[in-house]
Amino acid sequence: MSKQPVVQLEGISKSIGNKTIIDQLSFELYSGEVVGFLGPNGAGKTTTIRMIVGLMAPTSGRILIQGVDIEQDFESAIQHIGAIVENPELYKYMSGYKNLVHYARMVEGVTEERINEVVELVGLTNRIEQKVKTYSLGMRQRLGLAQALLHQPRLLILDEPTNGLDPAGIREFRDYLRHVAEKEDVCVLVSSHLLSEIELMCDRTLIIQSGKLIGQKQIQLEEESKTEQQLVQFEVSPVEKAIGLLPSPYNTNHQPTTDGFVIEMERDAIPKLVQKLVEKEIEIFGVETRVKSLEEEFLEITGGRSVD
Ligand SMILES: Nc1ncnc2c1ncn2[C@@H]1O[C@H](COP(=O)(O)OP(=O)(O)OP(=O)(O)O)[C@@H](O)[C@H]1O
Ligand SMILES: [Mg+2]
Repeated sequence: MSKQPVVQLEGISKSIGNKTIIDQLSFELYSGEVVGFLGPNGAGKTTTIRMIVGLMAPTSGRILIQGVDIEQDFESAIQHIGAIVENPELYKYMSGYKNLVHYARMVEGVTEERINEVVELVGLTNRIEQKVKTYSLGMRQRLGLAQALLHQPRLLILDEPTNGLDPAGIREFRDYLRHVAEKEDVCVLVSSHLLSEIELMCDRTLIIQSGKLIGQKQIQLEEESKTEQQLVQFEVSPVEKAIGLLPSPYNTNHQPTTDGFVIEMERDAIPKLVQKLVEKEIEIFGVETRVKSLEEEFLEITGGRSVD
C-alpha cells in the first residue's frame, strides 16, 4: 500500500521499573482496514493502546498519527483518534440520543446531522430515544461505537470490545465494524486475546507476545486461498498401510488421526495422491480440505504456547 499510514509505531519500547513491557514494537495501520491486535493476557495490548492514545509515554520510539508525532503535537494527533478502552461510559438513565448529545458537547464541531449519521451507522435509529438501561449489551457496545465516531476520527481503537458478548452478538458487532470501516474509511484496531473473535472480525492480525510483535497475518477469504497450502484430512482404511504408502514429502510430513491423517499440501496435488492410494487398494472414506485456522498458525508461531 502506498498511501500514508494512519498510524505508525516506530521501535516503541516501554519499561516500568526495570521491567520491559513493550519491546521495540513497530507496525503501520491503514484506513479502511480492520486490524486485530492479538495476544495472551499480559502481552502488552492495553499498554500499547494507552501509548497510542497518549495516556502513557513510551520510553523510546515514535508514534505518528496521520504523519504527526504525538509527542511533538499531541493535540492535533489525538483529534484523529476515537477509542473505547474497556467498557464505554454511558448514562443508563438517559436515552441513547441524550448520551450522544451529552458527549458531543465535550467535543468540538459535532453537529446534529453527525449525531444522526452515527446513530444510523450503528443501526440504533429505532431505539435511540429509549433509555440505555433497556439496551442489550450489544446495543450498548454499538452506542459506545457511535460515541467514539462522533468527531470523525481516522483511527478507532477498541480494547477487547466483545467482552461478554455471545457468539451472535460478536457476529453482529463484527458486521457493524466492517460497515463502519468502509463507510467512514476509518482504520479500526481491535484488541483481543481470543483468536476465534479476531479471525471473524479482522482483515489482518498483529500478534503480540511479551511485548514483542511475533507475527503478522493477512486473513484470507477461503476462495482466495485455492493455490495456497491447505490442510487436507484423509479418512482411510487401513490407516497404517496408507501411511506407509505416502510418497515424499508426505511420508515424513503428516499428522496421524484416529482414522487417517492430515497433510499440508497444495490443492492441485490432491487428485494424484488420491489416485495413488486407490491404486494400492486403500479405501478412502473422506477427503476434506480446510484452510489453516489462525489458531493453528498462532500455535506454530508461538511454538505451541496457547493464547489463553
Ligand atoms: N503500570 C504498570 N506497572 C507495572 N507493570 C505494568 C503496568 N501496566 C502494565 N504492566 C504489566 O505490563 C504487562 C502488559 O500488560 P497489558 O495490560 O498491556 O497486557 P494486555 O495484553 O492488555 O493483557 P490483557 O489481555 O490481560 O488485557 C503485564 O505484565 C502487566 O502486568
Ligand atoms: Mg488489556
